[in-house]
Amino acid sequence: MTLAQTSKNLPTLHLLQDKIALVTGAGSGIGRAGAMAMARHGAHVVVTDLDQKKAAQVVEDLKTEGIPATSAGLDVTDDQALKAMIDTTVDTYGRLDVLHSHAGYQIEGNLEQVPLDGMELSWNLNVRAHFVAARSAVGHMRAQGGGSIIITSSNSGVQYDREMIAYATTKHAVVAMTRQMAADYAKDNIRFNTLCPGFIDTPFNAGFETQMGGREKLESYVARTIPMGRWGTTDEIADSILFLASDMSTFMTGHALVIDGGECI
Ligand SMILES: NC(=O)c1ccc[n+]([C@@H]2O[C@H](COP(=O)([O-])OP(=O)(O)OC[C@H]3O[C@@H](n4cnc5c(N)ncnc54)[C@H](O)[C@@H]3O)[C@@H](O)[C@H]2O)c1
Repeated sequence: MTLAQTSKNLPTLHLLQDKIALVTGAGSGIGRAGAMAMARHGAHVVVTDLDQKKAAQVVEDLKTEGIPATSAGLDVTDDQALKAMIDTTVDTYGRLDVLHSHAGYQIEGNLEQVPLDGMELSWNLNVRAHFVAARSAVGHMRAQGGGSIIITSSNSGVQYDREMIAYATTKHAVVAMTRQMAADYAKDNIRFNTLCPGFIDTPFNAGFETQMGGREKLESYVARTIPMGRWGTTDEIADSILFLASDMSTFMTGHALVIDGGECI
């Protein structure tokens, strides 16, 4: 049982009671699990995704647990739409306590294999969109006295992969950018941390699976490479999201939180 699910059994444990949170790329995988965990812990969550139907499904699933949430379609590479979504959230709910800027992109290949537009898309989604999201949120957070901004990087943001130049470069860049923002905004009580998961079994790994030569080869790679010998679950990552979002981490900023079964060791 993970903390992400416990509120179902322990209704008094509400780490984010009455907080307002917004998550991007929240229709699937880690973003979805984190959004659901925050909602179960008392936050009103604005669940956004490029695929509006997936975001709406998350809200439907929360509804079956008796938990209210809001969904919206949002492409994080659309600067104006991203800023408008954050402004509208504050207009509607009066504040924004947690921003989890999560959507990201992985393209495999080395220097000669990655097309220029693949590098550009990686930069736009894995770095620039987080810059725009954070930029849109900080004014609101400063005015209300603080907040927590969680930006999804990867353990590829603190170690080097093989033949993943666009991904490793942009995921390192976002760790650097987040640390800089943490230093600049600590005085405003706005905390910035990066989430650095390892292998989590979501649709995100489809490209890597192809690169590895199929599911069986990927499974054997995970069993061999990860010291714990297995994938992490989305709920295990959601627990770290709860930790970074809530008052459990009030003295933590500029941190790259690695959750990867020991892969980085
Ligand atoms: N799953 C892993 O093993 C793993 C490991 C490390 C880091 N990550 C990071 O987590 C993030 C996503 O992983 P996941 O496992 O949750 O993937 P996922 O495929 O389960 O979900 C990604 C979601 O993002 C949405 N999305 C895609 N482009 C978007 C855009 N332009 N704007 C808004 N939403 C968009 C998709 O519709 C999808 O619902 C990425 O930043 C990735 O680098 C994942």
